[in-house]
Amino acid sequence: MRKLIAGNWKMNGLASSLAEIAVLKGATGMATCEIVVCPPFTLIEKSSQQLKDSNITIGAQDCHPQTSGAYTGDVSAEMLADAGARYVILGHSERRVSHHEADALVASKVVAAHKAGLTAIVCVGETRGERDDGRALHVVGTQLRGSVPAGSSSSNMAIAYEPVWAIGTGLVPTIEQIEEIHSSIRKALEERLGEDGRNVRILYGGSVKAANAAEIFAVANVDGALVGGASLTAADFAGIISAVGQVG
Ligand code: 13P
Repeated sequence: MRKLIAGNWKMNGLASSLAEIAVLKGATGMATCEIVVCPPFTLIEKSSQQLKDSNITIGAQDCHPQTSGAYTGDVSAEMLADAGARYVILGHSERRVSHHEADALVASKVVAAHKAGLTAIVCVGETRGERDDGRALHVVGTQLRGSVPAGSSSSNMAIAYEPVWAIGTGLVPTIEQIEEIHSSIRKALEERLGEDGRNVRILYGGSVKAANAAEIFAVANVDGALVGGASLTAADFAGIISAVGQVG
């Protein structure tokens, strides 16, 4: 399966950051994987114009479940598509925590994304406490069942497993822990989507760097990465993208 490497800029990036995208465009022409950059809303239109004739596509970091209406400050999936986005990250733990997003809301956003023709990157992952209590598999399974709506398929959805305790901390689960969760996600997707569940890309996210990417990409059922901090500079992100080429 062709790997998907997505960069989540979170609330970072000004017009001057488009220079990084220009460098990335130059550095990734020969990449063997699919590359997505998810800048803040304010840069979606400009960056997608800039990347028109490249192998990099643009994604967003959230959308509202409705198409339009009296929702001050929100942005719909249709607006994102109109601005040039092709992907949208949904259910990121930072939104689940700071915006109290529950699985049902995430699922309704995924439906909206699909309606707008966007591919959803649906995030799941346990906290440190949940892992220490031996509940990681259970928590991730519950999030997955609740956040993936009917109509999802390998062509309109990827899953990102992002243990909350590994995000921005420099901590990474062991290879065995990644393998265990990714294989349980694969099993759940097959139960849910039948044969097509085998083709859904399952990304790992949480402190992915150029130095650990090749090892992570070699794990069974790891079909790419969702990268935060190391996606902010073209040099770091290109290092992760080139690690895909090191995996057979
Ligand atoms: P870091 O790569 O900075 O740990 O962030 C991961 C993440 O949250 C991507 O969505």
